[in-house]
Amino acid sequence: MLLKVVIRRARPSDLGGVVEVENLSFDRPYPPDLFYMFLLLHGDLFYVASVGGLIVGYVVATKRCSGVGHILSLAVRPEWRRRRIGSSLMKAVLEKLKSQGVDQVVLEVAVSNTRAIFFYESLGFQRTSVIKGYYPWGEDAYLMVKRLREDEH
Ligand SMILES: CC(C)(COP(=O)(O)OP(=O)(O)OC[C@H]1O[C@@H](n2cnc3c(N)ncnc32)[C@H](O)[C@@H]1OP(=O)(O)O)[C@@H](O)C(=O)NCCC(=O)NCCS
Repeated sequence: MLLKVVIRRARPSDLGGVVEVENLSFDRPYPPDLFYMFLLLHGDLFYVASVGGLIVGYVVATKRCSGVGHILSLAVRPEWRRRRIGSSLMKAVLEKLKSQGVDQVVLEVAVSNTRAIFFYESLGFQRTSVIKGYYPWGEDAYLMVKRLREDEH
């Protein structure tokens, strides 16, 4: 049976599944409370991927006061990776940011997270600088940037 992946806005009832994806995806996951806060503060920029009711991925972003978009977190359940789910989540959130007038989006990624760096590069993000000691455990991050308006031609 072909299972359909649905990309939609996150709801409070999704948060258990989101936390599960987070815990399966990171050695140092964000605490569950943070996702409640994300939903409260950035619910319009919080999307999930659902397959037959199972949450298989999520993305959450924010629009800064400066008007720049910021990807806060993204993950796909390990056994559902390399099926374009991450790309579809990013497409949804980037389109939403664009509809809010955002024309530049930034994110931080650990310098050791080669897979995610390839992923973001496949979506047109470029590494612009290194943020020394960005993570609490001391690792550096790349700042990656994508301009949204360049996609239009
Ligand atoms: C990064 C992540 C979200 C990608 O999700 P995904 O659904 O597997 O990504 P997609 O299937 O949409 O991949 C799109 C493209 O990105 C690149 N890519 C994705 N994963 C890759 C990998 N492991 N190695 C190399 N390139 C990769 C490829 O170009 C891929 O296209 P292809 O499959 O046709 O070659 C997922 O690997 C993940 O959850 N990682 C752990 C959490 C994480 O690191 N989040 C980012 C924190 S900043």
